[in-house]
Parts: sequence; structure tokens; C-alpha cells
Amino acid sequence: MTGPIRTAVIGAGNIGRTHARTYKANPLAELVAICDVDPARADNAAAEFGIRAYHDVATMLAAEGLDMVSVATAGTENGSHHCVPTIQALEAGVHVLVEKPISNDIVEAVRMVDTARRTGKCLAVDLNHRFTPATEMAKGKIASGDLGDVLFVNMNLWIRNPKDDPPYFHLRALHSHSVDVMRHLGGDVAKVQAFFQKGPGRNGWSNASINMQFASGALGHLTGSYDMHGPDRHSIERTEVGGTRGRVVIDNSTVDFHWFPHDSKESVHVHNAGGLTSFGETFGTRIGRWLAQLSAGDAPAAIEGSGLEGLLAHAVVEAAIRSHEAGQVVVVAELLDEAARAAGLSGWSR
Ligand SMILES: NC(=O)c1ccc[n+]([C@@H]2O[C@H](COP(=O)([O-])OP(=O)(O)OC[C@H]3O[C@@H](n4cnc5c(N)ncnc54)[C@H](O)[C@@H]3O)[C@@H](O)[C@H]2O)c1
Repeated sequence: MTGPIRTAVIGAGNIGRTHARTYKANPLAELVAICDVDPARADNAAAEFGIRAYHDVATMLAAEGLDMVSVATAGTENGSHHCVPTIQALEAGVHVLVEKPISNDIVEAVRMVDTARRTGKCLAVDLNHRFTPATEMAKGKIASGDLGDVLFVNMNLWIRNPKDDPPYFHLRALHSHSVDVMRHLGGDVAKVQAFFQKGPGRNGWSNASINMQFASGALGHLTGSYDMHGPDRHSIERTEVGGTRGRVVIDNSTVDFHWFPHDSKESVHVHNAGGLTSFGETFGTRIGRWLAQLSAGDAPAAIEGSGLEGLLAHAVVEAAIRSHEAGQVVVVAELLDEAARAAGLSGWSR
């Protein structure tokens, strides 16, 4: 792409405004407009950023000659409002970065990924937890062979969120983040088995214990919770990958990296890896990578944290919900096939 990327944001809530601030700060982008169906939200955000306000996505797409949009809407389980504007933008020939979860509905998620394929546009998801130097250092240990074969990937993602409605809110709103980090390090997940629990006084499933078998044969475990953290208000995010030659840990909400080789007494600890000190900075690292890839003209299939990867992470969450309901192990590919047929496709294929 030559020149700055003409950009707009759809959804002017807290996160849409975070995206807008991030585009404003990145010279690869030229932020020109923001759209919200709530006129006051759109107008206030437009005044804040010195850009044009729209109250309707179609009008904005027709008027602005955009290269890309961020879709930062929310809805049920923080995802039911993502599909319509994403498909509108893709059909208008505009690249899309959509917030997570890609959708709270796997059939809609399949439609979004399929539309991106048909239109040849780039679709990415704000899977910002993987876009950190600590996570990339862990990935590097795997890619270089230093860690050996991956044997297991274990993760905790624990925060405090009192929201309980609908009952699977915790699973669908949060855990595409954790599953994406696990998939980034361990590859595709083949099978899932899950137990859920309601914390005291809860109507929703606020704690989850999810077992996975990766396609490689490696094992995975995710403990998720909406009932955690103490007075210091720290969330707890920790990922550990065990291999045949060593072990890596990404700790402290993605900013610390540890390396423990099996054949040496020396271990490595990098605090604030890459200079990152807090989770909030991951919007800059993730959106920065998206802009760099668009600017370089990367092909849709090369986009990191793509729509497809958002769908595959969400499919694992749906498999966990189904496993909890049925008391059975769920095969992720079968669930994807079912969703693809419901979306009017003959079956699932990458
Ligand atoms: N990546 C992260 O770390 C992270 C963190 C928190 C939240 N999120 C995600 O960010 C998203 C937004 O969260 P929020 O708290 O800002 O939500 P919000 O509900 O405050 O804001 C969403 C806005 O979108 C608008 N909207 C809905 N449909 C629209 C449409 N078709 N056209 C234009 N505007 C429309 C709504 O009017 C609302 O103002 C959610 O999907 C959430 O899951 C991501």
C-alpha cells in the first residue's frame, strides 16, 4: 500500500476509542472517521480525535474511500454485533480488524471468514495477547528447536468480572484470547473436554477447567476464571510450554519471559520483555503489526491473528461448552463442519 492507510473505527465505546487513539499514534494510518449507531458517542469521539462522525456504517463506507476499518462493537457475550458491520465492510472492499471474540456465534464467525475469502480482503481479530515480545520469545524457543518437541501447553487466564449474563459469558467473551495464545504456541487443537463451575452467588459459569489434545498429540490445559484477583487488582495470566529439551513460561499478564533448559542450571528471566510493562500496551503492539502487514501488502492468508485463527480459537471455546453440556470429549473439526453446513457451505475446509 502506498501512503498512509485510510482508516475508520466502527463502535465508539471504550475499546473503539482505544483503537482510534492507537491509529492516531501510528504514522502508517490516517484515521479519518468514526461511526456509532449511538449518535452522541460517535459525535463525541469524532470531536475528541478531530475526525468525521457517522451514525450508519453504509453511509461511511460509501463516503470515505477507506482502506480498512476496526470493528469494535460488542453486543451479547461481547460479540453479537461484530458480524454485520464486518461483512458490510469486506463486501465494500475494505480490510477489517474485528475485536474478539470474532463473534459469539460460530456460524456467524464462519460466514465472516468465508466473506473475507470470497472478497480477497484481509480479516484480522484483535487477539492482542499473542502480540507481545514475551510471547514471541517463547515462540522463538519452539521455532528454533531449543525447546524440543512440545509436550504440553498450560495456561491460566483469571480476572475479576461480576458479569454473569448469559451463563456462558465468561467463556465466549474472554477465552478466545487464551485459546489463541495456546494455539499460537501448540498448533491446532483436535479434541476438548471441559468441566465448568459457578462461583458462590453466581448464575454464570465463572470457572472453567478445559483439557485439550493438540493435533500434534501434545496436551493442553486452560484454567479460566472470572472470580479471581485480590486487592492489588492484578489479573493472572500465565502460560507454560513444556518441551523435550526445555520449558518456557510467559508470566505477569504477558510481560515476563522465563526459559528453563533441561540440560543447564542456568535459566533466563526477562522482566518487561521488549520494554512492555502492562497489558494495555498490547493494543499498540497488535494494531502496529496489523498496520505493518497491510502496509507491506501481505496476502490475506499471511495475516497474523487472522479471522481464521479467531474462528479456530472460538471453535475450541464452543467445543468446551458442548463438552460441559454433554459430558463428552468433543472433536473440534466435527463442530466446525457442523457450523460450516449451518452457514450454507458444504463443509469445513481451511
Ligand atoms: N482485545 C481486548 O483486550 C479487549 C478488551 C476489552 C474489550 N474488548 C472487546 O471490545 C469490543 C467493544 O467493547 P466496548 O466495551 O468498547 O463495547 P461498548 O458496548 O461500550 O461499545 C460498542 C459500541 O458499538 C456500537 N455499535 C454496535 N453496533 C454498531 C453498528 N452496527 N454500527 C456502529 N456502531 C455500532 C454501540 O452503539 C456501542 O457504542 C467487545 O467486542 C469486547 O469484547 C477487547
